[in-house]
Amino acid sequence: MGRLQEIVYRYDVLPSTNDRARELAEAGAPEGTTVMAWQQTAGRGRQGRRWYSPPGAGLYHSIILRPPLPPVEAPLLGLVAAVALAETIREDYHLPADIKWPNDILVLGRKIAGILLELEADADRVRFVILGIGVNLNQTNFPADLGQPATSLRLETGQIQEADLFRTRLFARLDQWYTLLLGMGRTPILTRYSDLSSYVYGRTVQVEVPEGAIVGQTCGLTRSGALRLRTRSGEIEEIVTGDVKHLRVVAEDDNATSSSESQRP
Ligand code: BTN
Repeated sequence: MGRLQEIVYRYDVLPSTNDRARELAEAGAPEGTTVMAWQQTAGRGRQGRRWYSPPGAGLYHSIILRPPLPPVEAPLLGLVAAVALAETIREDYHLPADIKWPNDILVLGRKIAGILLELEADADRVRFVILGIGVNLNQTNFPADLGQPATSLRLETGQIQEADLFRTRLFARLDQWYTLLLGMGRTPILTRYSDLSSYVYGRTVQVEVPEGAIVGQTCGLTRSGALRLRTRSGEIEEIVTGDVKHLRVVAEDDNATSSSESQRP
């Protein structure tokens, strides 16, 4: 057993495993403490969205981490989880998992897993991070109002999936990549993420940021995992947080227009 999952709290129903993990972290729970639920009644996604969490159909986990990192490097932990998820789905389930920056896991343009990273920090050090991971395992349909196409491991493989097996496979990789990040620094995880994600280089995307929308071509990651975008004026913008939409460029000239998001790259 590695750093993670040494202490596990299992619940039948919780509003959100992230909220329970935060309470435990505030009370001093050690690194690696993991909260799991069979069902969430108020599962949360990024950007204030909800996370569809029906009983027994998905994995709903939150892990308490206490990494010796400055707050600016905390996004690297989301990259760790994204890489662990993408590797598990590719290598153990033989599906073409992609990572949409920052950490949506897609199979053929449909979302199969997501990560919600919540940070509690002082000015110069992380106090704790709650790493929330949701995986669609055995759902066979999804509500129409999720805002993006979704899929599950069962829909993609045609087979009912065992939660414990997925969890064991995922946690082995989480442990490995987290230990590597702390021991070797950021280069291995940035490199692996860039290999696994079709969004890191050469994609024309639109990113919604608080100031508006930025359109540009992706050109790599910064040292802390932000997305670099080359805009039409040639400037490089660094996107720290936001929602990325892939645009299909219709014409490559000054009047180039971009069609709406293609969810199936
Ligand atoms: C996203 O893609 O928007 C992130 C989804 C994260 C969902 C997980 S499920 C376990 C944990 N508890 C929550 O309320 N959210 C995360």
